[in-house]
Amino acid sequence: MNGNTIPDEQIMELLSLADWAPTHARTEPWRFIVFGDEQVDEFCITHARLYKEHTPAASFTKEKQDKLLRIGDNASHVILCYMKRVSNHKIPEIEEISATACAIQNLLLGAAARGIATFWSTGGLTHHPAMKAHFGLGADDCILGILYLGYSDQLLTEGSRMIPLEEKIRWVR
Ligand SMILES: Cc1cc2nc3c(=O)[nH]c(=O)nc-3n(C[C@H](O)[C@H](O)[C@H](O)COP(=O)(O)O)c2cc1C
Repeated sequence: MNGNTIPDEQIMELLSLADWAPTHARTEPWRFIVFGDEQVDEFCITHARLYKEHTPAASFTKEKQDKLLRIGDNASHVILCYMKRVSNHKIPEIEEISATACAIQNLLLGAAARGIATFWSTGGLTHHPAMKAHFGLGADDCILGILYLGYSDQLLTEGSRMIPLEEKIRWVR
């Protein structure tokens, strides 16, 4: 990413695309915490600090801490995407996570169509309870990822797939 700023209006457009994800029983469980301007750095500082505080000494590495600190350097916005678990739990958790993943995909497709670069990360403390606690999420909520958004000077490379599509499909007829 090149450090250029995405207008907040475009971020709102992407979030309104996300909001059209399918939803079972209309629970609409997708939620977003959007960090912009200097809060992008603040988020990265917080993430690196949480990593240090909650990683056992045996597995802690300075490289990883530095990576978390620097990962947003040229990003315009960071969006923490999570599934908010409704209180009655009528819908299975997997469906609520699926709906939230659909919302994220909508957002990513909208970003691609607008020439906005994205990176969906689940690195660092994404799945650690400390991350949820820090941002005031409920114990049953689920963070699906941290999206880094920005503009890039690099041309899109050709996509690649390791497993042939045919191997992923079983036709029955
Ligand atoms: C749920 C999920 C979590 C991911 N977490 C990471 C991650 O932590 N680090 C990483 O380098 N890529 C991660 N990725 C993959 C990148 O975001 C990847 O660039 C993206 O899936 C685009 O893939 P493509 O190049 O095949 O289109 C994740 C993807 C998904 C779907």
